[in-house]
Amino acid sequence: MNPDTTLPAARRSDADWWRDAVFYQVYIRSFADGTGDGVGDLAGIRDRLPYLADLGVDALWITPFYPSPMADHGYDVADPRDVEPVFGDLAEFDALLADAHALGIRVTVDLVPNHSSHDREWFRAALDAAPGSPERERYLFRDGRGPDGSEPPNNWPSVFGGPAWTRVPDGQWYLHIFAPEQPDLNFANPEVLADLEETMRFWLDRGVDGFRIDVAHGMAKPEGLPDMVPMDDTGLLDDHGPGDRRFDQDGVHAVHRRIRAVVDEYEGRMAVGEVWVSDDERLAQYLREDELQLAFNFRLVTAHWTATDLRDAVVHSLATVSGTPAPACWVLSNHDVVRHVTRYGGGEVGLRRARAAALLQLALPGAAYLYNGDELGLPNVDLPDEVLQDPVWERSGRTVRGRDGCRVPMPWSGEKPSFGFSATSDTWLPMPEEWADLTVEAQAADATSMQSLYRAALALRASSRAFAGEGLQWLPAPDGCLAFRRPGGLVCLVNLSPAAVPLPEGQVLLASADVSGGEVPVDAAVWLRG
Ligand code: GLC
Repeated sequence: MNPDTTLPAARRSDADWWRDAVFYQVYIRSFADGTGDGVGDLAGIRDRLPYLADLGVDALWITPFYPSPMADHGYDVADPRDVEPVFGDLAEFDALLADAHALGIRVTVDLVPNHSSHDREWFRAALDAAPGSPERERYLFRDGRGPDGSEPPNNWPSVFGGPAWTRVPDGQWYLHIFAPEQPDLNFANPEVLADLEETMRFWLDRGVDGFRIDVAHGMAKPEGLPDMVPMDDTGLLDDHGPGDRRFDQDGVHAVHRRIRAVVDEYEGRMAVGEVWVSDDERLAQYLREDELQLAFNFRLVTAHWTATDLRDAVVHSLATVSGTPAPACWVLSNHDVVRHVTRYGGGEVGLRRARAAALLQLALPGAAYLYNGDELGLPNVDLPDEVLQDPVWERSGRTVRGRDGCRVPMPWSGEKPSFGFSATSDTWLPMPEEWADLTVEAQAADATSMQSLYRAALALRASSRAFAGEGLQWLPAPDGCLAFRRPGGLVCLVNLSPAAVPLPEGQVLLASADVSGGEVPVDAAVWLRG
């Protein structure tokens, strides 16, 4: 193991800066709008870099900003090596990267290998070409079943609802695990892999520090595309039972080895995978020394607010990485899930728990990903039907509302929507009037705000030796509480019991609630130097 792994991030060597970095996910449409059209963009991010530096994050993950017809808000990429005009241009990206680096912030970008947009030149060429042509071989075109081929080639459902196959005029079908506007690419075709490598080099040569890899467990499909039995749609999460054949096929690891080989050609770059695989051993395979450096562990996302669930999440996440070179990688929220303030009960209770969860997440050894707005304690928003944009809403026959509620733009300042997000109040998703108290500006002035808690936590994490070391030792704790110690001496206690518990011995570094009475209140967490 590299001797540097015992040091906090600020003292890390450049090569493995990501091991305990705090990444900040910028959902580009919703972070900051620099051009006044109601949609966030690169110029907006660039304007707000001083805020991010001041908040204390080490790196950004910027969600896709590539040319796209926006069927899935950018995860349908028409050209992986350019910038969507709504978001800016390549010069703006280069300027953002230079400014971020000057402020000591690293920048990682999304890589979307599993599928392209139906608007990508490749797919248009495939539609114009004949069955069996090299153009069709870049995607997964198949003949249908039934006497006239009018039934899909297999029974796979799309994650967004409806079948995963769409028929084209000459009678063939193409596979799209997500929306029909997102045809799956054929990774058995060397041209597809070569193109991915070209995309990686394009961004690495510009100076990006790494990638977040979308649906990183999806690129390889099982031989012969067999039916799923049963054909229950497990969403993105594959339990690797015999059922869901769409994800986590063994062949995907060859793709990861190629990805890693390219990353390793460049000094100090990294890749984190979106791997919705819940089995510890299956997930660990993605973290072998020649594959991903990090994989999101979504167990904190799926855990309920109970000591058993949260402890289980931590134990499994650490067990996953224990036999690999990787550190754990903690996530509470992202652009695909209900925000954790709401998951934990919403309102005052949700906020209180989210404060404690922040201290739990940031005390754990490894890398941490914050989602924009976590630091403001933003809740999910109940949006009216007529503004919903997530493809899930229409494809589910308007039965599943989709992910728009966690994607509402960030409130920055002022008393009324768009709260400084944009020059227009007509934002791509409407912002709730009652967010005036949640703005960055309002919270910066309040020492008890969620933002102030994050600032203090990130500053301590970056500077204190108490956070050194990647291990974790569980400590005895009252019923319903979690307590652990890091090798550097940090002690974290989270009280999930129904009553206040005594404050442990030690110097209090930070607390999510008032502990001055010598007790840790319900739904609170405390950091101590033990
Ligand atoms: C990932 C993204 C999600 C997107 C899907 C298809 O899960 O996080 O937002 O819809 O992939 O690209």
